[in-house]
Amino acid sequence: MPAEPGGSSTKRDFLYIVTGAAAAGAVATMAWPFIDQMNPAADSLALATIETDYDKVVLGQQIVVKWRGKPVFIRHRTPKEIAEAVAGDHADLRDPATDESRHKPGMAEWLIIIGVCTHLGCVPTFGLGQYGGWLCPCHGSVYDTSGRIRKGPAPKNLYLPDYSFLPGGKVRLG
Ligand code: FES
Repeated sequence: MPAEPGGSSTKRDFLYIVTGAAAAGAVATMAWPFIDQMNPAADSLALATIETDYDKVVLGQQIVVKWRGKPVFIRHRTPKEIAEAVAGDHADLRDPATDESRHKPGMAEWLIIIGVCTHLGCVPTFGLGQYGGWLCPCHGSVYDTSGRIRKGPAPKNLYLPDYSFLPGGKVRLG
C-alpha cells in the first residue's frame, strides 16, 4: 500500500459522514439508485441543502458526505494530485474539461465531486487506478485526480455538485 499522502487508500479515505439513515458500510459497494433522484422522498428533499466542515479534512485525505441521496467526495488534494490533474488537461479526454473548470477559482486544493460512477452508478475508490485518482470496482472505470474519466466504460467525468464555500471553513451543498 502506498504511503504517500495523495495516493494511499487508507481507512481515513473512507471516513463517512452519514447524514441520513443509510448504513455507512453499504455506501462503498452498492450501486447508487439513480431512480431516487427522480422521485425523492420527503427526507431527501429535507436534505436538499446541507452544510459541512471541509477545513478539517487533512491534506491528501477526503471525506464522503451524503447529499440528496448520493455520496459526495470532499477531497483535499496534494500539490502532486493538482499537478497531475493539470497535466491531464492536455490528454485526449473522453469528456474534455480543464482541471480549473472543476474547482472553485483559487481553490484547487479542494475537489468536490459526486462519488457515483457515470457508467452504472457504483461508488469509485480513491487511490487505485493508473491516474492516481479513483477506480470503480464494478467494471473498472478509471478517473484521474480531477475526477475525469480516463479509461473504462464510463462515458462522463464524475459530476460536480452545486456548492459554495462559506466563512468558518464550511461548504454548503445545494
Ligand atoms: Fe463504474 Fe460500471 S459502474 S465502471
